[in-house]
Amino acid sequence: NKQVIVLGLESSCDETAAAVVTGEKEILSNVVLSQNDAHAPFGGVVPEIAARAHVTEMDRLVDQAMTEAGVSYSDLSAVAATAGPGLIGGVLVGLMTAKAIASVAGVPLIGVNHLEGHALTARLTDDVAFPYLLLLVSGGHSQVLVVEGVGQYRRLGTTIDDAVGEAFDKTAKMLGLGFPGGPAVEKAAASGNPDRFDFPRPMKGREGCNFSFSGLKTAVRQAREKLGEEAGETDIADLAASFQKAAVESLMDRVAKALDLFVEDHGNGGTLVVAGGVAANQYLKGALERLAHDKGIQLKVPPPRLCTDNGAMIAWAGIERLKAGFTDGLDLMARARWPL
Ligand code: KG4
Ligand code: ZN
Repeated sequence: NKQVIVLGLESSCDETAAAVVTGEKEILSNVVLSQNDAHAPFGGVVPEIAARAHVTEMDRLVDQAMTEAGVSYSDLSAVAATAGPGLIGGVLVGLMTAKAIASVAGVPLIGVNHLEGHALTARLTDDVAFPYLLLLVSGGHSQVLVVEGVGQYRRLGTTIDDAVGEAFDKTAKMLGLGFPGGPAVEKAAASGNPDRFDFPRPMKGREGCNFSFSGLKTAVRQAREKLGEEAGETDIADLAASFQKAAVESLMDRVAKALDLFVEDHGNGGTLVVAGGVAANQYLKGALERLAHDKGIQLKVPPPRLCTDNGAMIAWAGIERLKAGFTDGLDLMARARWPL
């Protein structure tokens, strides 16, 4: 009975990543190359630059991941790659690479939905049983879902405008904090006064579990413009802290609603899982810990390096799909849009 070993590739945004993971949840290697420096001058991800960088780096990263893991292609049980959603040029690079390796090694190809990769990460780092409630917060997505099983997701809410990570990135840009914005805003906010600016808490108290962040972004822009040229480091820190507090309070209101719905359907004693790049935010984590405590529910947040885009989450989703009997043919298409 051969051990399950899967190579996972990720290239849907601005991280080129390759990892080798086993069915026993061992991460044998997890190599992530960020393209931050290439995109920083533009203050955001430039799709064509991203695609070209994936082409240049992917082969080398796969080599490195295999070498660090100490496995050869003949040891692999399958090759998994993000097949969407994301920037199509980048997705194609990872998927085509995976197809080539799968066909040479004679093992199954598994196309992974990037969001499913984020959704299942907590089962790699922890023992989390289905069903659980998932808050997925990244640069491209803000959603709250019930994860009922592999390939079985029920969406309770999504953003009606911007994703929360996007709001962090745009706020960072407005405050001159650089790119990528999320970590920069969190760092600036640490020394700021979160109560100085009275920003809106979008959707707070509303029906349902949808999110909205564009109004908050506008409020930050107006406050920034009002301060004008005179704004100093303290002002910027206060803006960052006030924004972060408003964004997190808005998220908490929506997640509290979703938790009530989840408990109605599945009873008490469930688990709330947080995933996606914004889950790396420690202020958000603190707020979620208090909410989970109040609602009597368990909270699982994967470590930051597995919250932001990486290959291990794709390899692990590949393992889950392989075990469930879902593999793909070499005719699998890359998809720019692909709702869970
Ligand atoms: O999941 P991810 O790596 O890529 C996408 O699938 O979008 O998420 C990236 C997003 C970016 O918007 C980034 O600013 C945000 O996650 N992010 C953070 C933090 N670290 C990354 N946002 C807030 N606080 C952080 N510490
Ligand atoms: Zn992601």
